Amino acid sequence: MNQASHDASDLSCRPLQTPASTRTTRTRGERMADTAHRSTGAEGMGGVDGVAGGVGLTALLVAAARAIETHRPDSLAQDVYAEHFVLSAPASAHWPVRLHQAPDGDASPLWGRFARYFGLRTRVLDDFVLRSVRAGGARQVVLLGAGLDTRAFRLDWPPDCVIFEIDRDGVLAFKHEVLGALSAAPVTTRVPVAVDLRADWVGALTAAGFDPAAPTVWLAEGLLFYLPNAAETYLISTVDRLSAAGSALAFEVKLEKDLMEYRDSPLYRSTHQELGIDLLHLFSREPRPDSAAHLTNSGWSTSVRTPFDFTHRHGRGPLPEENDALAGNRWVFADKPRSAR
Ligand SMILES: C[S@@+](CC[C@H](N)C(=O)[O-])C[C@H]1O[C@@H](n2cnc3c(N)ncnc32)[C@H](O)[C@@H]1O
Repeated sequence: MNQASHDASDLSCRPLQTPASTRTTRTRGERMADTAHRSTGAEGMGGVDGVAGGVGLTALLVAAARAIETHRPDSLAQDVYAEHFVLSAPASAHWPVRLHQAPDGDASPLWGRFARYFGLRTRVLDDFVLRSVRAGGARQVVLLGAGLDTRAFRLDWPPDCVIFEIDRDGVLAFKHEVLGALSAAPVTTRVPVAVDLRADWVGALTAAGFDPAAPTVWLAEGLLFYLPNAAETYLISTVDRLSAAGSALAFEVKLEKDLMEYRDSPLYRSTHQELGIDLLHLFSREPRPDSAAHLTNSGWSTSVRTPFDFTHRHGRGPLPEENDALAGNRWVFADKPRSAR
């Protein structure tokens, strides 16, 4: 993993206005997202298109965790852009971006354990995407629900890679504004695709230059539990359909039958009380499809791991505890064999 050529943490930060509301022309992504909002009940996800609230605010939560991880002496992943997102958004400008700024430091369920979870996830998926492009030869990467992911800017990609970043327009517009103010340059070609994943995102992705005949590395990090069952089913079967042999996919799921079982867990409670983010309200409560089994049945080679497996591997990260909101979290890694098509 390489550091970007300059250290973005040297640059000053100030809160930005979310820009989507100030524009009069509407992008294709916005029009499609509007259709999705009408047809799929976006208000259930908070009804906010940018990072000011609803599910978009969770992108800032992950960014804050990455900022804290970056500055840990035993850091698992480095993201020098993360703190700039946090400090630039009015909704999060007062959040900690260093562990010592959190009142309880490492003992905080939110800024200690939960942030470390995101740091570990970032590292594991950094390793996954780089290993997949290097070993498998894929040169296009699709980040589904990319949020404030800066992998296009901070990883050591082969020169001819294209990174497609799919998220809703307001989130990508905020990201564009913050990175633009930092004059951040991607390491390789980066193509933001503003579309709602509950709408026809395939049309938007292919219009942006995605090639279904070439192998792809797909990532759905911290995304699927926000989507309705039908949208997840469509997403997984579409990834399968658009994946040439040699493609790879990683995603995160939650196995709990009843998410409310952990409503009083330290993680959910502190996230709600300290940040006003009610994750259980944002998650889809519908029964989940078995996406790993779907891929296995379609000829993919899949492995399902707990985050704690990687805590042991890296020697740091969260461990199981009582009343643990992470108990059902699984990270799924899937490869489409070269002979499958
Ligand atoms: C928890 S954040 C994770 C972001 C990023 N993958 C990361 O790990 O940093 C969830 C992201 O999913 C995006 N998202 C949720 N539902 C979406 C939808 N229906 N269409 C597009 N993006 C969506 C949100 O806007 C948000 O950026």
